Amino acid sequence: MSFTTVESVPPRLNRSQLFAPGVRPTLFEKAAASDADVICLDLEDSVAPADKPAARANVIQALKTVNFGTKSISVRINGLDTHYCYRDVVDIMEQAGERLDLIMIPKVGVAADVYAIDMLISQIEAGIGRKKKVKLEVIIESVLGLNNIDAIAGSSKRLESLHFGSADYAASAGMRTTNIGGPNKDYVVLTDKDEAGKREHHWSDLWHYSTVRMVAAARAHGLRPIDGPFGDYSDEAGFIAQAQRTAVLGCEGKWAIHPSQVALANRVFTPPADEVKRAEAILSAMKEGAAKGMGAVALNGKLIDLASIRQAEVIVRQMQMIAERTKA
Ligand code: COA
Ligand code: MG
Repeated sequence: MSFTTVESVPPRLNRSQLFAPGVRPTLFEKAAASDADVICLDLEDSVAPADKPAARANVIQALKTVNFGTKSISVRINGLDTHYCYRDVVDIMEQAGERLDLIMIPKVGVAADVYAIDMLISQIEAGIGRKKKVKLEVIIESVLGLNNIDAIAGSSKRLESLHFGSADYAASAGMRTTNIGGPNKDYVVLTDKDEAGKREHHWSDLWHYSTVRMVAAARAHGLRPIDGPFGDYSDEAGFIAQAQRTAVLGCEGKWAIHPSQVALANRVFTPPADEVKRAEAILSAMKEGAAKGMGAVALNGKLIDLASIRQAEVIVRQMQMIAERTKA
């Protein structure tokens, strides 16, 4: 291990993050009744410019009145290049009470974007005597943001998670694709000819680099990496395939832009039962080993050591959070 240690942010269950546009308050109660771990009330791109003030008022009202139970609640504010941004922060922070857990900052390009919002929030919290500190989550969805991702990840003590937003990223990078978070038939590898002269197209994952980059930056700063949207909400298998890939790469959860995606994300990002069983067995074997002064022991013919404990602890803690969040 390096002499530099990484301290993780306090854990928060974030398998699924369901978005609801601020202009559709009837969806807030439905989102509250869903099985999403995090609900994000959106003031940004699902709200037309003329509707921004009404959306803000709806969100403030919901934060004061809707029973969101054990879920984490986030509000996505408008970007720092708009004049809606300061008003979003000031009105939500001053008027919405203590229920809000997170503010999501979209299109973050440089560390100072986060610093600026942190400064505003800190002043308001002190000014109104807010008891609970609001935390931040940011979306990496531009080439500027991806270039500066390390500095962004280390920009604020309030920051808890990085999210990758494929649609805006694709636009910013000039990518020739319009499928939000899904594959593209032109992003393929053509194999050499086989003996019969046949060649195959292998579809590749065009989001691979940005996802890996985000996971590394997030984890190196103790943050949670979260995979963004998958636009085709009628394609269940497509969503699961994408979520599974990012789960393998280290993401802790994924956005749901339609309620049908919540159960899928929860399923993919819940540790499988056999892994949980194995994690529990590892922890008890290591406990027995430690009592005998052993740092490495065998379990079912395989080596387990201190690294196995750390992995097992992550899984067991995740299961505890799920139990906590979903208790009646
Ligand atoms: N949260 C909670 N409930 C939702 C919901 C959401 N985001 N979207 C739809 N529902 C509800 C509908 O009200 C409907 O409920 P009902 O069965 O009681 O009538 C049910 O789920 C089925 O909805 P459906 O008719 O399939 O969807 P829709 O046409 O009303 O809306 C979208 C589809 C995509 C416009 C909508 O899901 C949406 O706005 N999603 C979030 C978009 C967003 O915030 N984007 C920003 C981040 S990328
Ligand atoms: Mg976006």
